[in-house]
Amino acid sequence: MLLEVKDLQKQFNGHQVLDGVDLQIHQGEVLVIIGPSGSGKTTLLRNLNFLEHADSGTMHFADQTIDLGKPSKQQVQWVRRHTAMVFQNYNLFKNKTAQQNIAEGLIYGHGVDAKTANQKAAQALKNLGLYDRRHYFPTQLSGGQQQRIGIARATVLKPEVVLFDEPTSALDPELVGTVLKDMQRLAENGQTMVVVTHQMWFARNVASRVAFFADGQIQEIGKPADIFDHPQKQRTKQFLNALADNY
Ligand SMILES: Nc1ncnc2c1ncn2[C@@H]1O[C@H](COP(=O)(O)OP(=O)(O)OP(=O)(O)O)[C@@H](O)[C@H]1O
Ligand SMILES: [Mg+2]
Repeated sequence: MLLEVKDLQKQFNGHQVLDGVDLQIHQGEVLVIIGPSGSGKTTLLRNLNFLEHADSGTMHFADQTIDLGKPSKQQVQWVRRHTAMVFQNYNLFKNKTAQQNIAEGLIYGHGVDAKTANQKAAQALKNLGLYDRRHYFPTQLSGGQQQRIGIARATVLKPEVVLFDEPTSALDPELVGTVLKDMQRLAENGQTMVVVTHQMWFARNVASRVAFFADGQIQEIGKPADIFDHPQKQRTKQFLNALADNY
């Protein structure tokens, strides 16, 4: 077990968004999370790396045990350093080039010296086939290219876990595939990933497990074929039927 959360609780204005989430993430797995809009998927990811603070719960991560209700500063920093998040809207710095976007996270987030950081950034762009775009600014890049650079920035230091929040949902349909291919390659290289997405191709073919999240909790979790072809709960069946109608 790489990371486990137990009884994670989070309220917003008296509304219980996460209602005792129990989740285990295994080393090297790709865990896909699906679920209705507004159910708390983003909130769950944000709580896993302390972009948001839980009301209560426990996290076991590597050899640490963290009280999510009152984590120490060191624990928060440690978790942030060993996880990375990829957002829906790329979140690249608009006034930095592709290479600077990747390098500066290393320099300011991880204390890597500028020369090494730029070498690593250039290599990451080479691996993506985007080396010729290294001096382009985000507005000069397609949405798909920006997101691929966002993923390179998140993964260049090989974090223990990468959290993806609907990484392709802001993209034009023809750009989705290139981003999913990058993610598949990361998965094949053993990167542990938690991915909120409704991309069925990815969920079916790349996920190790699929979790259906609703009503503040994980309702059902299992192998992709089990969840998609033999869902156990009525709630899961309803959601999958609605999803099939919409995609
Ligand atoms: N910072 C916040 N302050 C108050 N309420 C919030 C905040 N962030 C999220 N919420 C509420 O928590 C609930 C869950 O939101 P969240 O963004 O986690 O859902 P989601 O499952 O990611 O939805 P979507 O599929 O649309 O992205 C929503 O009702 C939302 O309004
Ligand atoms: Mg969301």
